[in-house]
Amino acid sequence: MKPAKAMVARLDRLLANLGYGSRREVNDLVRAGRVVLDGAVLRDSGARIEITSDLPTRMTVSGTPVDPPAPMTLMMHKPLGVVCSHREAGRSVYELLPVRWRARMPALSTVGRLDKDTSGLLLITDDGPFLHRVISPRHHVAKRYLATLDRPMSGTEVETFAAGTLMLEGETTPLAPAQLEILEPNLARLTITEGRYHQVRRMFAAVGNHVVSLHRDQIGCLALPHDLAPGAWRLLGSEDVDAIFRV
Ligand code: URA
Repeated sequence: MKPAKAMVARLDRLLANLGYGSRREVNDLVRAGRVVLDGAVLRDSGARIEITSDLPTRMTVSGTPVDPPAPMTLMMHKPLGVVCSHREAGRSVYELLPVRWRARMPALSTVGRLDKDTSGLLLITDDGPFLHRVISPRHHVAKRYLATLDRPMSGTEVETFAAGTLMLEGETTPLAPAQLEILEPNLARLTITEGRYHQVRRMFAAVGNHVVSLHRDQIGCLALPHDLAPGAWRLLGSEDVDAIFRV
């Protein structure tokens, strides 16, 4: 099989798309000798650059490694109290990332959403096909949550959630089967393969309970690392991506 052709872009377009400024601002950076590739200062904004994933090890801008080119995916430990959408009021997860990244093209978006009051593993990407594969129920990528409940569970919830017949209020199609483990009378681990609006909270509401706190600790087989503090993030490696889609 032929190796995939590397993408090529003009230097000014590459840096503008990574958020380093307008084409004019980027031109100024280049003219000032602030962009270095493989040890040589680049002086021509129109230079054609091969966009490879190792670019940050080869190119510096103002002395620091260039940001990773697209496609870029990261995992964040979403803290409580921040929102996943630009449109919602309040501090957003994007504000926890480098400011420059807000101007990246293609733009970064969260892979599905966690509520303001939910913490845990959140993926953020500029890779549309990857995003679709993780959130589409057709691909059955499991999302695992730890839920603390207001009232002790009766035990019948396990069967109710597994049945594939539970209908959420206001909806017309039943939920896909979900796996519930009762860890303590008021503490449950719930694994779902869909991402309907407020799904976990509404599932427990449908069986007469109330979620007091909610945390997502795993997507596919990718677990939130214990050393990733709330608000912290790191880029995803290929092993992490494999873990997401491992069955
Ligand atoms: N289900 C919810 O109710 N909230 C979330 O944030 C995620 C899943």
